[in-house]
Order: sequence, then structure tokens, then C-alpha cells
Amino acid sequence: MANNWNRREIVKAGVAAGIGTFGVPASAPAVIRSRSMLRPVVVSSGNGLQACAKAMEMVQSGVDTLDAVIAGVNIVELDPDDMSVGYGGLPNEEGVVQLDSSVMHGPSRRAGGVGAIEGVKTPSKVAKLVAFRTDHVLLVGEGATRFARAHGFGAQELLTDRSREVWLRWKENLSDRDDWLSPEQAGEVSTAGFESFVRHYGTINCNVVDAEGNISGVTTTSGLAFKIPGRCGDSPIIGAGLYVDNEVGACGSTGRGEANLVECASFLVVELMRNGAHPKDAALAALQRIAGKTAPRLLTDGGRPNFNLRFYCLNKAGEYAGASMYGDLQGRTARFVVNDGGDSRHEDCAALFDAMS
Ligand code: GLY
Repeated sequence: MANNWNRREIVKAGVAAGIGTFGVPASAPAVIRSRSMLRPVVVSSGNGLQACAKAMEMVQSGVDTLDAVIAGVNIVELDPDDMSVGYGGLPNEEGVVQLDSSVMHGPSRRAGGVGAIEGVKTPSKVAKLVAFRTDHVLLVGEGATRFARAHGFGAQELLTDRSREVWLRWKENLSDRDDWLSPEQAGEVSTAGFESFVRHYGTINCNVVDAEGNISGVTTTSGLAFKIPGRCGDSPIIGAGLYVDNEVGACGSTGRGEANLVECASFLVVELMRNGAHPKDAALAALQRIAGKTAPRLLTDGGRPNFNLRFYCLNKAGEYAGASMYGDLQGRTARFVVNDGGDSRHEDCAALFDAMS
């Protein structure tokens, strides 16, 4: 029999039933769904048009939710032109590409992450192996790399000519008191086009709820461009760069990982959804929390964070949102990707602030 409730009413019903206040055991179901209402939905950061399409195609053909989102982000990890993720990602300050990733599988509640892994184009696949083929949740550095080798990931060169050039320009422009001369200092060519990569935080997060209400997510990144070797951002950290609860929903992030790490904001977003908040309201509340706790050295003259941070989330009913600290940054509108069964499309993120001031 058809059920005429809309999704918001279903979520409200969970709240009205007294389910899911902040102190209630996490096993309490927060969202009541009718099977006839179920609908697969995939969301991702703005660089995930193909990733969401791939994940949707796979869940629609019955593939497990985690395998679907990993296959989706593998497209971006393997894309040499995306300089924020995987192969072609911008390196650390020594010119070495170190990648971070985490996965979380709602049905089994298994989670895995790798931090500062080297020589593997698809760290999300290694994160899944950590989740399912170890008794651990997080492997970092040389240990993560050796674990990947043990599972047959041969050493791969992750720097492309383009990402090496961008790193070289950054290094040459660090100081006018060392021996590295930029083309301008040496009287040669212009560096136009490279400025936008300075202190760049890229990343892809992708989350899905399938027709059965099963939920998984993945986040993968090359992290902060030109970082101190060994730096891990929020992406490999469960609760920060990614969090999934199969009874509630999923959330992941892109942007300044350090700001997210101290608030565990993906966990916070899922907990707020557990309490009945719509994904958009939950994500904006997390951004508000972060903005309110930002250290003075990271505030603009107008008192706003001088960085961006975004969340992508969905709940078990299939409601979803992308939310950004800023709706517009350097003339670019904050957008995320959604696929609810047709073509992937961009939608505007909800924004805590319209623009930096
Ligand atoms: N959010 C990606 C990073 O901070 O590395």
C-alpha cells in the first residue's frame, strides 16, 4: 500500500516517538522508514559527478554500498588532472605525494583509514582492506605503505609533470633568501595559472544510501598541498572526515581538516541527524560550531573563519545536503553533487556565510 508520508514527516515521527536524543544509546533507531519510500541517493563533493554516477549504477545493480562508493572515488583517485586526490595530487613540502583516506561500511559497522600513505594511487582500496583484513582502524605512514605492498599494491609514481611543476613553483617562491629561483626571479616565464594551487585543500567525499537503507561512505585526498611530511588531515579520521551510522546516515567533509579535526564534525552531523535534524540543518549547525570556536589567528578582520570547510551528508530516508562555510569563495559558488537515480547533477551548497568578510 502506498505511504503518503514525505521524508521530513518520517524523520519527525522518529523524533516524536522519543527516539534519539543526544544521550540516548546510539543503537536507538532515529529514522523510521517505509520500504515503499526507499530511494537510493548518492552525494559527493563537487568533483564527484562521475563518482556519483558510478556509485548509483552499482547500487542499482545490487552491489554493496561501500564497494559502490569506492569504485566511484577510484575514478577521481586515478584522474591525473584532479590535483587534490590520488594520482596527480599535490605533494608535501618535500615533493612527495602522501595520501589520506577512510571508509565506513554501515551494515557491518567496520571502518578503516590510511594516513600519509605513499606510492598507491587508490588509498580508498587500502582503507577498505584495513577495515576488513585487519583488527585495526587506522594505519599511517610507512606501515600503511608496507601493508598496501603486502596486499599486492606495487609502488606507483604519483607525481605528474603538472603536479611536480606546481610544487616546484611553490618551492621557488617560498623565499627570496635561498637558492631556489623562480622563473620571475631568474627573469624567465610567468607563473600565471599556478597561484590558485597555493595552500590548496582538495578531497572527495562520497556517501550513499541504497534502496534497502544501507549506508556507506568514503573520503580520499592528497591533503593540504605542500604540507609538512606526515601531516594527516581529517580525511583518514573516522568521526572527522567521515562518519556513518547505518541507523541514521552519513557525513563527510572537504576543506581545512585541522578545523574539522578538533570538532569531530562528521560525527556531530550524524548525531544531530539522529536527533531528527534535517541533513542541511545538521551540517549548518556543525559549521556554526566550528566558526564559533575558531582561534583568533584564523579569523578575518570581519571575525569569520579565514578558511573554507564543507560537509556532504544524507540520512537513512534519503534526504541529503551539501553545506559550506562560504556560499561564494573567490567568485566560485559552493556546489556539491547528487545522484538520485538519473544523471548526476550539481546543486548549490547551503552556506553559513555568503562570502568571506
Ligand atoms: N580535508 C582535507 C585535508 O585537510 O587534508
